[in-house]
Amino acid sequence: MKIAQELAPAKEQGGRRRGRELKTSVAERLAEARRHTLKLIEPLSHEQLNRVYSPILSPLIWDLGHIANFEELWLVRKIGGREPLRGDLGELYDAIEQPRKIRGELPILRADEVRPYMEGVRERTLEVLDEVELDPEDPLLADGFVYEMLLAHEHQHNETMLQLLQMVESYEPVEVDSGPASEAVTDGPDMVEVEGGTYEIGAGPRGFAYDNERPSHQMELEPFAIDRTPVTNAAYIEFLEDTDGEPPMYWERDGEGGWVRTAMGRTEPVDPALPVIHVSWEEADAFARWAGKRLPTEIEWEVAAAGADRDRANLDQLSFGCAPAGAYGDAPADSGAVQMLGDVWEWTSSDFTAHPGFEAFPYPEYSEVFFGDTYKVLRGGAWATRRDVIRTSFRNWDLAERRQIFAGLRCASG
Ligand SMILES: [Fe+2]
Repeated sequence: MKIAQELAPAKEQGGRRRGRELKTSVAERLAEARRHTLKLIEPLSHEQLNRVYSPILSPLIWDLGHIANFEELWLVRKIGGREPLRGDLGELYDAIEQPRKIRGELPILRADEVRPYMEGVRERTLEVLDEVELDPEDPLLADGFVYEMLLAHEHQHNETMLQLLQMVESYEPVEVDSGPASEAVTDGPDMVEVEGGTYEIGAGPRGFAYDNERPSHQMELEPFAIDRTPVTNAAYIEFLEDTDGEPPMYWERDGEGGWVRTAMGRTEPVDPALPVIHVSWEEADAFARWAGKRLPTEIEWEVAAAGADRDRANLDQLSFGCAPAGAYGDAPADSGAVQMLGDVWEWTSSDFTAHPGFEAFPYPEYSEVFFGDTYKVLRGGAWATRRDVIRTSFRNWDLAERRQIFAGLRCASG
């Protein structure tokens, strides 16, 4: 009893210290996320920020206001219990209420107003962070969940912003990481074998993950094989020539029977060694059939990706393109497959549905409203995904016809 009494204050102190450390790290990561967002838009004019480039993508100025408004909703209003800076903004920046095609016409904050709003919200976020107790009994606050969610939100919007930046004529990034492009390519078999058996799928109860990755559960799998690397442009060109299919987005004929890429207003030859990117699910599925294979299920994909290392992968946005297929051979998944994480999102054959035992958290609009047979699951992240976002259990989803996302594929058989 005596010992317990003496230990209790020490435990409390330890808890407080851990809480302070967590808050410091959250504040630093929030600042880093914002620097990154601003870096992406730094080269753009007001006109480019406001322009609607595509009915399926928001103008960048909407993303900026939305990032700050979502932060205000969760970190200032819900956690801090404070009133919004501008009560009329919530409706304009609600991603469910406002479809992308009309966002450019809304009375949203424009270039001269949005930055002060972002800064005003951030100031209050940091005040609230300073005051709040990260109560381990509150699922929103335990391990800083809501802060992790907001960090991931800003990171994920950076990727949709990059989808639009592919359409911006002569966009010049302020920082480029050329490392991934020069990664050595390793040789190996075309496909790797994965044994049948019982596998643990999904994210465990600890650490940050989205509701749709939980709960972790066991699945029986038949043996299968999966491509060791993502499908290359070279293979995709063969498929196009054989089937007269639609080329990927941003490909045009070069006038001499070859192909060029035109993303970000540039014209450069299609590099046969790179993974194919910007293909739809329909095209990916057609390719797999043409190759005498099929798309993997998302469960097969997750099993084949076990052990993949996100620190040795082309992620984090600054490479502005893929590493060659077969790169990062020193960091394969346990299955032997390489580049399961990074480079291109990989289409799977699976519809976006709930894991058995799913519970919506912290709000049904994150995943639950999208469950059904409308969306296909993509896995693994792309060069345009921030490193902190991705893990082997992470599930992305989109419509089968969509190609503006950074999506490619690898095939399975068996
Ligand atoms: Fe959002």
